[in-house]
Amino acid sequence: MPDARGVPPAPWIVQWAGLVAPDATTLDLAAGRGRHALFFAERGHKVTAVDRDASRLPAHANIEPLQADLEDGSPWPLGDRRFGAVVVTNYLHRPLMPNLFEAVAPGGVLLYQTIMAGNERFGKPSNPDHLLNDGELLEMVRGKFSVIAYEARLISEPAMAMVQRIAARRT
Ligand SMILES: C[S@@+](CC[C@H](N)C(=O)[O-])C[C@H]1O[C@@H](n2cnc3c(N)ncnc32)[C@H](O)[C@@H]1O
Repeated sequence: MPDARGVPPAPWIVQWAGLVAPDATTLDLAAGRGRHALFFAERGHKVTAVDRDASRLPAHANIEPLQADLEDGSPWPLGDRRFGAVVVTNYLHRPLMPNLFEAVAPGGVLLYQTIMAGNERFGKPSNPDHLLNDGELLEMVRGKFSVIAYEARLISEPAMAMVQRIAARRT
């Protein structure tokens, strides 16, 4: 499978990327083909891109690929590393939330977008384990992050989907 060259980043990530400090290291979790890793790498950020299949990640001097299964009970693969930005799109594994929140350095930025309940009528995922509940993303960051923007809405591009998305700064 080709890497993410030519695959556009999610508009939410582009919209709020300006919050990320120019010298911030970035973590792209469940990076897939690395469209957001590439987006931040090309903006000059050092990016660590984690996925259970790192073979699809773009080769780029600013991208550190890290192959890890995030759900098999292994320890969090990033230890106590902290990043100036953590980016997650189209991925949810609730047990990881404390680790990924902790991976955002104080003052750093969390950009997160994924599918929510109500998406079932548009297709997969339909497993509730992979769907955010109403208001869940907002609730999860409460007390840990200052919320800059939050939406729960239907999007039509690249396909119809019910999503929640947040841009927040770690306090
Ligand atoms: C829907 S894709 C999203 C990819 C990327 N974030 C994007 O939006 O373009 C979900 C990604 O999660 C990864 N993934 C799923 N389960 C995983 C696991 N247990 N450990 C690590 N990565 C996993 C998949 O390999 C896939 O690349």
